[in-house]
Amino acid sequence: MKKRILITSALPYANGPLHIGHIAGAYLPADIYTRYQKKRGREAIHICGTDEHGVAITIRADKEGKSPREIVDFYHERIKEDFRLMRIEFDNFSRTSLPLHYDTAQEFFLRLYNKGYITQKSVEQYYCPKCKRFLPDRYVEGTCPHCGYDKARGDQCDNCGRWLEPKELINPRCAICGTTPVLKESTHYYLALSKLSEPLEKWLNSKKSYWKPEVIGLALSWIKEGLKDRAITRDLEWGVPVPLEEAKGKVLYVWFDAPIGYISSTKEWAIKKGNPDLWKEWWLDKENTKLVHFIGKDNIVFHAIVWPAMLIGHGDYVLPDNVPANYYLNLEGSKISTSRNWAIWIKDLATLYPADYIRFGLTYFMPETRDSDFTFHDFKERVNNELVNNFGNFVNRTLTFIKKYLNGRVGPLTERGNEDDGEILSLIEKAPSELGELIDNYNFRKGIIYLMTLSDKGNRYFDRMAPWKTRKTDIERTKRTLSVCYALIRTLSVLIEPYLPDSAKRIREMINATDMKWDEAARWAIPQEIEINEPRVLYKKVEEEKIEIGEKDVKSKEKGEKKMAEISFEDFMKLDIKIGKIKSAEKVEGADKLLKLTVDIGEREITLAAGIAQFYNPEDIIGKEIPVLVNLKPRKIRGILSQGMMLAADEDGKPVLLHPEKEVKPGSVVR
Ligand code: 2FM
Ligand code: ZN
Repeated sequence: MKKRILITSALPYANGPLHIGHIAGAYLPADIYTRYQKKRGREAIHICGTDEHGVAITIRADKEGKSPREIVDFYHERIKEDFRLMRIEFDNFSRTSLPLHYDTAQEFFLRLYNKGYITQKSVEQYYCPKCKRFLPDRYVEGTCPHCGYDKARGDQCDNCGRWLEPKELINPRCAICGTTPVLKESTHYYLALSKLSEPLEKWLNSKKSYWKPEVIGLALSWIKEGLKDRAITRDLEWGVPVPLEEAKGKVLYVWFDAPIGYISSTKEWAIKKGNPDLWKEWWLDKENTKLVHFIGKDNIVFHAIVWPAMLIGHGDYVLPDNVPANYYLNLEGSKISTSRNWAIWIKDLATLYPADYIRFGLTYFMPETRDSDFTFHDFKERVNNELVNNFGNFVNRTLTFIKKYLNGRVGPLTERGNEDDGEILSLIEKAPSELGELIDNYNFRKGIIYLMTLSDKGNRYFDRMAPWKTRKTDIERTKRTLSVCYALIRTLSVLIEPYLPDSAKRIREMINATDMKWDEAARWAIPQEIEINEPRVLYKKVEEEKIEIGEKDVKSKEKGEKKMAEISFEDFMKLDIKIGKIKSAEKVEGADKLLKLTVDIGEREITLAAGIAQFYNPEDIIGKEIPVLVNLKPRKIRGILSQGMMLAADEDGKPVLLHPEKEVKPGSVVR
């Protein structure tokens, strides 16, 4: 076995909060795995951070009329909060916009460039005549040439997972305005995957016996199709600059720099530890490091093909030992989609249930071997039947009996006793190694089921031994029964910790046991009598009511409604909405999203800053009538004092103007 385990989970894009699919796909399994390895006494670290570059970020910034910096700063914090709510822990959680990351990524690029694995080519690239700009990757959408999916993006198809080039898309369109783009000449740098294909294939073949079949299957099938060289630079302002004199204005493609973030985050960790060279033990010592990347299936191509190819080309770094990718978690039967707001956000879910309920549910429905489905109904069933009625009940009934009938005292337990006792004690002896094997092999779902089976066996033993009867006839027997149950609970409190860390802590407090190492949990003996602490109910049932809140929330999403707080009629009457006539409209220097409008609202003319410049030409909207919120406190937007707000429809982030059905007097009130 290797000495160190370097665990990473996919760097989340800093362009939105986390939903249940993210957690079940990558972060929860990574967290369980890391907690387990540490508990087992192995040297392990969990490394992550936010992915702050790329078109996913700039498109979001464009839509919200903000700078990419504002977007990533906000979501970096928000994502950290989501992880905290889920008790997902990292040894370091970095960001790819740090100088340390820029240096690391540029050094990586240069190494590949100098070794001839990066080449320069003059290529034709899409340009949008309406937006007057080059359209890098996701700015182009169209139909996937491989699977026919019609919402494929210019860098990747969400449906079949392939890495694409914008030019491969059938019926391309500009993602901002929908116009068909034209081709124009530009220079880009290409990763020479064709040169790396052979060593990559050899390496992948060595993984056949122990990788998830679907991961290795996909990777090898892509190799078989033949790897093409791929552009790894973009004409964008936001990103890691290409470290070459002649490449001014170009940045590295986000998927080139993001995985390098695993290295730079480890470097940051080492610096924080006060030993800046420490990262080298983890990344350069190929003999002694086991590198594991937790990801969702849309990231397979990058972690099983592109990133290993980069690592092989570079030469110094450790290669992944495994990439245990998960499938997708669907929501109430449909694919989670953030753009359609078809998602359950972690922050919302965490207001309804404690972290461990959610961790339990998401482990139970973890899409380990196929896509799985999260429904509130099944969530409630599973939590109530397993976590509450089985596991929680076993803990509670045992501890309350100990308190009530044995004055809170159990043990000593030093002999195996009868057959029934012995059966439970054997389960305890085997459990750490059996569960450990499941987790070591990334079978997290089977692991939680294994634990539930253990407590189920505990419950059956309790029923068979009937301590409520024996307490009147045979107190020694009662003491034995409850001591055996206690020993099983003590073991469970250790083994359940990677899955349900809060519960583990609470149980250990109640049973008055100190923390144990994983392997120590195989011991059942209680050498001396122990006095337990006050038992408290471990879990409450998930009520129908809370499920309804969750379901209603999801249903409203289904209809496309945004869930907002109810307001009173009085609140509504505070809004002064009038019809205004656009008198003039002009572009704003230095703010390509804004138009400055002068609007006649009857008694006066006001100025508005409207974020519609990418969708409407000034000359096309002069003379049009629009609804305006006129009593909004004036705000300065990019130097313009905006004295109200133009109201328009928001179609997936694109503004669409609204006009009265027939012309009305400017200043007419909207009710
Ligand atoms: O799919 C995503 O959310 C990407 N931001 C994952 C990046 S993983 C890694 F390479 F950094
Ligand atoms: Zn496809």
